[in-house]
Amino acid sequence: MAVNKKLGLTALGASLALTLAACGGEGAGSNTNTADADPSDLSIGVSMPTETSERWIADGENVESQLEEAGYTVDLQFAGDDIPTQAQQIDQMIVEGADALIVAAIDGTALSSQLQAAADQGIPVISYDRLIRETENVDFYVSFDNFRVGEAQGTALLTGLGVTDEEGNPTGVTGPFNIELFAGSLDDNNAGFFFDGAMSVIQPYIDNGTLVVKSGQTSIEQAATLRWSQETAQRRMEDLLTSSYNDGSVVNGVLSPYDGISRGIITALQNAGYGPTQDAQPRPMPAITGQDAEIASVKLIADGVQDSTIFKDTRLLAEQAVAAATAYLEEEEPEANDTETYDNGVKVVPAYLLPVETVYQDDIESVLIESEYYTAEEVAAGQSD
Ligand code: BGC
Repeated sequence: MAVNKKLGLTALGASLALTLAACGGEGAGSNTNTADADPSDLSIGVSMPTETSERWIADGENVESQLEEAGYTVDLQFAGDDIPTQAQQIDQMIVEGADALIVAAIDGTALSSQLQAAADQGIPVISYDRLIRETENVDFYVSFDNFRVGEAQGTALLTGLGVTDEEGNPTGVTGPFNIELFAGSLDDNNAGFFFDGAMSVIQPYIDNGTLVVKSGQTSIEQAATLRWSQETAQRRMEDLLTSSYNDGSVVNGVLSPYDGISRGIITALQNAGYGPTQDAQPRPMPAITGQDAEIASVKLIADGVQDSTIFKDTRLLAEQAVAAATAYLEEEEPEANDTETYDNGVKVVPAYLLPVETVYQDDIESVLIESEYYTAEEVAAGQSD
């Protein structure tokens, strides 16, 4: 008997609850009465998008180790940024009897048939960091405050240019400064939140002439970077330099949504004679933002090459994912702190959102090292273990 775990026993009548109890105890993958099962008999599929970015490796490992500590069996898969691979891995998890799924999607709309199969078998689905869209078969969303990430990136760009302080208060510096805008992958729901958040902060300074997007490429479609690819970002930056800065003008700032994209932008700029530090003349490295506090970028920030990043503590996100999965398996509802923002096109998905922190050079010690996210040695080497 397939029982929908998502309903929770409180939503069921007493007699049905008794029937459920009688049907339970079939072990991993039975999708019945998981509340009474021993965690070691329950298996959780964890689907991560890629191993090319350090943050997703950390996410996968954190979720896996925390689930294992709670006693669950874990099937962790990385999909190599390939949509069919991710679909096939999730199919396999379902076939092998997953009792819950935690999924960070590559393309937020590409998993509908897998999620229908999960729903048909009563398997709860937790959307991890990237909202799964256009389906009712997603139960819960754990992420960070993604609009706030964008606002923080916009403020970091203005701060890097000296136009505002770190709190976003204008300094009176009016430029004009040349900037360029990069966005993430349009199939990732987060990309729009980051870009909109950043533009909400930056747009007034474009409107008053303090900032000039010299290429004229101001829409998210023009700024987007498919699959958040470092190489794609490097090529676009090279093209922008060729098309818009061949008159002796220089780029003063670049809005970048992700550290890998920032590194592609930096490579293009270095190849064109920028940097490596603000002291270099006549082409100082522009103020460049980022996200994820990837170790290679933290080193670039320590070295004064990249200006800032946004730190998202993936250990805390893993905790929320594990708490949500555990709640469903115990036939309870996970605790949400946002039930309005994340409309996936079919329904508003209840969410637990975590706060983020901007990291400039001065914050590496207090934010990243004191929290033991990295050691001082890792920052110095630009590599984590
Ligand atoms: C995540 C970001 C990450 C980006 C690229 C987004 O969905 O929220 O933290 O930088 O994907 O991996």
